[in-house]
Amino acid sequence: MNKVISLAAIIPAAGVGSRMGLNHPKQYLKIGDQTILEHTLDKLSKVDLIEHIYIAISDDDAYFDDLELPDNRVTRVSGGKERANSVLNALKAMKGSPPEWVLVHDAARPLVCINDIEKLITTCISADEGGILASKVKDTIKKGDIYSQETVPRDQLWQALTPQLFPYTALLNALDSALVDGALITDEASAMERAGQPVRLISGRSDNIKITTPEDHALVCFLMDQQQKSI
Ligand code: CTP
Ligand code: MG
Repeated sequence: MNKVISLAAIIPAAGVGSRMGLNHPKQYLKIGDQTILEHTLDKLSKVDLIEHIYIAISDDDAYFDDLELPDNRVTRVSGGKERANSVLNALKAMKGSPPEWVLVHDAARPLVCINDIEKLITTCISADEGGILASKVKDTIKKGDIYSQETVPRDQLWQALTPQLFPYTALLNALDSALVDGALITDEASAMERAGQPVRLISGRSDNIKITTPEDHALVCFLMDQQQKSI
């Protein structure tokens, strides 16, 4: 990539982790001797193109200040009610010197591969279009409630992952207007789709799992061990 670009990352980490059922937010659960949030931050810190990392943390969070964060490229911002509010707060915190591009990555996805992050960045910036890491749906998909009504063709179905990378101004406007309109926004891409902006699907590793339930945590501990042995 020859273009000089400016790129900041946002890690939304202001959730309570209700589906994990712990008495503390899941991002502070340990994998080996580090918290999930520290593992995630380590991964993003290894991507040279990321100039600065904004982490959205709840104002009630009693754990973040105890972490020893080696990276001086990190700024804490206030989390919001929903994930989209947390991301928007981080975008607003950059308003003084906004980057051209913003990469958003869930705190709860510590297994992301640096190669995949770099592939996302390179592809989107060369195309001058936003995009997301995603993995093709592998299972047979049924639609229904008590009974299956149909089997949905899966050739065009993707599971959305993070990171998601978009131009700063377009993402700020798309999230702002989605929240003003009360639209259901589960990721940045859904706000960009709603705003009629392009979202490239960039194939990423399907083991970039979001830790949501205790079963996910057990699996991620195993996979992280494998990943660290293979480095
Ligand atoms: N997140 C956030 N601000 C919120 C809600 C979520 O920054 N108000 C973050 C979470 O910390 C997480 C990411 O968004 O890193 C993905 O959200 P999710 O997996 O749903 O985490 P939680 O909301 O914490 O979990 P749950 O939905 O089970 O309560
Ligand atoms: Mg949630």
